Amino acid sequence: MTAFMTSFDETWRAIQTIDGWLTEGQARMLYDSARAVSPGETIVEIGSHRGRSTVLLAEAKPGSVGLLAVDPYGDPRWGGGEDSLEIFRANLARHHVDDRVRLARQLGSEAGQAWTGAPVGLLFVDGAHDYTSVIADLAAWRRHLSPTATVLMHDVYSSPGVTRAAFRYMFGSRAFRYADSSRSLARFRRAGSASPTQAALSSVRMLRPLPWMVRNLLIKLAVRRGWKRVVRVLGRTDSACLY
Ligand SMILES: C[S@@+](CC[C@H](N)C(=O)[O-])C[C@H]1O[C@@H](n2cnc3c(N)ncnc32)[C@H](O)[C@@H]1O
Repeated sequence: MTAFMTSFDETWRAIQTIDGWLTEGQARMLYDSARAVSPGETIVEIGSHRGRSTVLLAEAKPGSVGLLAVDPYGDPRWGGGEDSLEIFRANLARHHVDDRVRLARQLGSEAGQAWTGAPVGLLFVDGAHDYTSVIADLAAWRRHLSPTATVLMHDVYSSPGVTRAAFRYMFGSRAFRYADSSRSLARFRRAGSASPTQAALSSVRMLRPLPWMVRNLLIKLAVRRGWKRVVRVLGRTDSACLY
C-alpha cells in the first residue's frame, strides 16, 4: 500500500503519472498554498480533469481542511468527459486520497451558488477557459472566501479568455492583491481594503508576465502555421514551457 505523501518532492513524484498541465513550479505553489490554509476552512478546486492537482491538494492540505473538487465531467472541451471521470476516480483511489475529496459534478458557478459549507481558504480556478465562465466561477465563489483567502488561477498568462477575466476581476482591485506567478499560474490574496497606491502597485506587478505570454502566443501561432524559423528564433523547447 502506498503511504500518504507528506513532502512536496514525494507528492510531485507521485502525480507525474497523472495526465495534466501543472508544471513543477506550479505544483509547488499549489502545495504551499494548500498547506497554509487555516484549520476548519475548505479548499475548492474548479476543474479537476484526471486528478493531477486534486491528488496534490489532498496530499498537501492539513487534515482539518476540507477539499471540494468541482467538475461537471460532461463537456469534452478542456479535457472533461466521462472517461476523465473514471480516470479521476481511479487516480484518487490509487493514491489513497479518495476519502479526503468531495466531488461536485457541477459547473464552478453552480457549485458556488449552492455552497453552504465552511469558508474557502484556497480557491483554485482551472475549469473552463472562456471569459464568461471564468467570471461566473469567480463571482459565485467570491462571497465564500475567508478574509485571508488565496485565489490561484491557472492559464492567466496563457489563455486569452482567462487573461481577460483575471484582469477584469483583479486588475485595480482593492479587495485582492496580486502576489506572484509561476508561468501561467497567478496567485492572488484577499487584501482587506487596499489603499489606491497598493492597488496600483499590485496592478503593475500583474502586468509583468504579459511579454512572456505574448511570446508564447506567437510560438503557438508559429507552430500551428509551420513557421519553423520563427519558432527557432523565439526559442521554444517543449510545450510545457507555454503554460
Ligand atoms: C484544464 S482541466 C483541469 C486540470 C486539473 N486542474 C489538473 O491540474 O490536472 C479543465 C477541467 O475543467 C472542467 N470544466 C470545464 N468547465 C468547467 C466549469 N465551468 N466548472 C468546473 N469545471 C469545468 C473540465 O471538465 C476539465 O476536466
